[in-house]
Amino acid sequence: MTRAKRKTEHIRHALKTGQSGLAGFEEIAFVHQSLPDCSVEQVELSTKIGELSLSSPIFINAMTGGGGEATYQINQKLAIVAKETEIPIAVGSQMSGIKNPSERNTYKIVRTENKHGMVWANLGSEATVEQAKIAVDMLEANALQIHLNTIQELTMPEGDRDFAGALSRIETMINNLDIPVIVKEVGFGMGMETVQKLESIGVKAVDVGGFGGTNFAKIENERRQRLLSFFDAWGIPTAISIIEAKEAAPHISIIGSGGIQSSLDIVKGLSLGASAAGMAGRFLKILVDQGIDSLIEEIEEMKNELRYLMTALGARKIADLQQVPLVISGQSHHWLTERGID
Ligand code: FNR
Repeated sequence: MTRAKRKTEHIRHALKTGQSGLAGFEEIAFVHQSLPDCSVEQVELSTKIGELSLSSPIFINAMTGGGGEATYQINQKLAIVAKETEIPIAVGSQMSGIKNPSERNTYKIVRTENKHGMVWANLGSEATVEQAKIAVDMLEANALQIHLNTIQELTMPEGDRDFAGALSRIETMINNLDIPVIVKEVGFGMGMETVQKLESIGVKAVDVGGFGGTNFAKIENERRQRLLSFFDAWGIPTAISIIEAKEAAPHISIIGSGGIQSSLDIVKGLSLGASAAGMAGRFLKILVDQGIDSLIEEIEEMKNELRYLMTALGARKIADLQQVPLVISGQSHHWLTERGID
């Protein structure tokens, strides 16, 4: 299958497969505060990921680009939404645009529509420094996301089979680029071991990309003859992954993503240790089913809800959320006990 065809297949399957809704947030409960000593007006949504300053913790995570008209249009619409709501937007993997210069317009449109906004480039860990520089220049990007997607590649019939040397390639990219690098998963999560390795080479921001949302094992299995269905349930739920990342590297910026469905999920992710939250599948669905205006409205509503939730919890700033009392139950509690995290 050509890369271009695969791009549109991913979008189609992501919309069809949907999200499992088992990202672990259902096992996180806030302890209600009757005296929060806070007003909605006092709440400040601005946050930081490493040296990047964001006006709110929500961003549009990497989805598409490459191929032709369909991805161009989706990226154009997502870029308009990002501009109107003043949130960052990441594009999908740019390898296709690097290998086929005629496809670069499908990525560049994100910068054209959103001249002054925060745009993030995206490549896999197989990329060279030269390729990373082309990807960043293509978008005049403010940061580069490097995705780790072993399970997706293994499940993909035509995917990579060799994952050796990724850590040292990431290190080389970090040392040779002059913009921040965010290392991300794509829906299988990161545990303490992964985050420790990333921190050891100087990574300053990770997006845990946890299990419970868009499921690339299921999506790729749709395209296989003999199913690797054991990968369908593989991965670390997002809520747990945020806690693991924070435990492993308390001083790097953590982004929560993977199955984030609501403002409540975002606030839970932030209180577990994340500084921002990315959404991909749910935003794509709203955009495709209901259009640009509905997605803009949804994001603005979510920002308002974040203010209400933070007021209820007495958190005036995003960082204050990490101090709010919460209770972790069920499987998540069991997992954390087994992993020695309390
Ligand atoms: C993605 N995602 C993704 N990630 C990445 O780093 N590079 C990519 O090219 C893509 N492509 C892509 C296509 C489509 C159609 C979707 C829905 C997603 C993964 C995405 O950024 C995110 O990590 C996961 O989708 C989990 O988040 P959600 O969808 O559960 O919010």
